[in-house]
Amino acid sequence: MPLHRLTRVVMGVPNVTEVASYYRDFGLTPTTEDHRFSTVDGGEQLALVKTARRRLVELGVGADDADDLGRVASRLDKLGISYERTDTTVSAHDRGTGAVVRVEIAERLAQRPAPTPLYNNPGSVARAGARADAILREDRVHPRKLGHVVLGSTDHESSQRFFIDGLGFKISDSVPDMATFMRCSSDHHNVLLQPTPVAFLHHTSWQVDDVDDVGRGATAMLEADPERHTWGLGRHFIGSNFFWYLRDPAGNFSEYYSDMDCIVNDALWQPGVWEASKALYSWGPPPPPSFLAPEDLAALMTGSHDPDAR
Ligand SMILES: [Fe+2]
Repeated sequence: MPLHRLTRVVMGVPNVTEVASYYRDFGLTPTTEDHRFSTVDGGEQLALVKTARRRLVELGVGADDADDLGRVASRLDKLGISYERTDTTVSAHDRGTGAVVRVEIAERLAQRPAPTPLYNNPGSVARAGARADAILREDRVHPRKLGHVVLGSTDHESSQRFFIDGLGFKISDSVPDMATFMRCSSDHHNVLLQPTPVAFLHHTSWQVDDVDDVGRGATAMLEADPERHTWGLGRHFIGSNFFWYLRDPAGNFSEYYSDMDCIVNDALWQPGVWEASKALYSWGPPPPPSFLAPEDLAALMTGSHDPDAR
């Protein structure tokens, strides 16, 4: 696949300083530039900018070379979608999600493999006489990379066309009238679109080593402020990943995840069309209503009609 990963998100929030401190706690590392953060493997992957209401300002997608950019440009031409092109980028605005997607030439990720945890299972003892490695970890959890973003679109069909036919994303799974899971890498999903009455950023998701680091990361966040808790610990059905969602001070959810399905050979993956009952999770506590319909949705709708509130 000529596209190979998400490079970064630019999140607009009204309260940049407060939100920056949240993502520092979350384990992202501040760079030398204000309000920018990097992950362990992905480099700079989060930039915070001031906007009147919270929203995704820009999403970066990595491509290999100029030929890939040319292919994206000609596909956008076919759809009649305008774009800006430089030597290293093609940027286009998606009306439904309100975001600019910038496809840029970027290095592929080469991730150092995480150690494989040893589990004692029925009939098979892998860790004889030793305590579990996870309980001995004392370092803070630092996300390895930005994995995916979930976006509400006011025009689901045109946003899907934009990502699939325009940019070259692929559909991994879908839930009719609810969600389209799309990938631009071997991860099961990098962008998930939901039809919503207002364009907004539902969550960003950040990969950690394993389920213990999902739990350790969230526990540290909740020790600092229990109000951050949103939903977890659980395991998704679609994508299979372990998850724990927290809420930043602007109202965006951020997810620690591990063990997501990987689609390395497109021919060996059969995209599924799933019922709504499978859409959310395989196990875990029931999701709070505020996860499905964030509490500030009405305010975001009002703000979206105000041309000054960008
Ligand atoms: Fe997610």
